[in-house]
Amino acid sequence: MLDGKVAVVTGASAGIGAATAHILASAGARVLLVARRQDRLETLQQEIGDAAQFMALNLSDPSSASALLDHALAAFGKVDILVNNAGILRTSHHDDFDLDELDRMIAVNYSAVVRASILFARHMKAQGVGQIVNVSSIGAGIAAAGTGIYGGLKLALERFTEVLRVELAGSGVRVGLVSPGTTSTEIFEDMKSRGQPGWDEFLPAMQAGDIARAIRFMCEQTGNANAARMHIYATSETF
Ligand SMILES: NC(=O)c1ccc[n+]([C@@H]2O[C@H](COP(=O)([O-])OP(=O)(O)OC[C@H]3O[C@@H](n4cnc5c(N)ncnc54)[C@H](OP(=O)(O)O)[C@@H]3O)[C@@H](O)[C@H]2O)c1
Repeated sequence: MLDGKVAVVTGASAGIGAATAHILASAGARVLLVARRQDRLETLQQEIGDAAQFMALNLSDPSSASALLDHALAAFGKVDILVNNAGILRTSHHDDFDLDELDRMIAVNYSAVVRASILFARHMKAQGVGQIVNVSSIGAGIAAAGTGIYGGLKLALERFTEVLRVELAGSGVRVGLVSPGTTSTEIFEDMKSRGQPGWDEFLPAMQAGDIARAIRFMCEQTGNANAARMHIYATSETF
């Protein structure tokens, strides 16, 4: 259980982040919901109730990480859990990749996660306890055409996260990676809007709640245990 814990969940306006906010709140946590779409965050806040507050911001902005930490401390007085979940997927075959997307992908999928991880890690280390969950992808380990930028950024994020765990060893701060397989969310809408099939159409995909349960499990570790790395595959996934 997570009674009394305070969690910050990025990408909470949809998919895995929304499901994570629900499941952490149902386990007893108070939750700060973070994304750009304020209307969605308001709706989610109303669904969860008094245990939730929201902050609408663009994680591409380099100042967002410190704004997030300041807001969480002002709203709840402390932060125990950071779930860096927000992310975007743009398929990236070199023939047709829109290079204007490159910096945006780096900003959201890598820089924002690294900035928040470092700032929250310093704070959690000082308070002697904390949990950081960074959401990667099984795509980090697969060299499939079209996934070079997305998978490459997730791979870089995994190395950063593993090193942060090592640097924080013994500090009371747990750091971990959750790597989902194919999960039916809005993340595939960009490819569908360009007439391509979404990856969640090729197999019976997981639901957002399947990944949220893994994130909750990671956050509920006690004693000397750290569930630092979890790969969650759809049962029909063949790689
Ligand atoms: N679905 C899958 O099959 C799958 C597989 C492996 C890994 N993942 C990873 O799981 C995570 C969540 O993905 P999902 O499938 O739940 O995607 P999703 O349904 O598209 O949700 C993405 C979330 O990220 C937020 N976001 C995007 N850009 C943002 C920005 N600039 N500033 C603030 N928030 C931003 C979106 O909110 P706003 O648009 O409101 O800002 C939304 O809440 C991602 O890191 C993704 O890479 C997903």
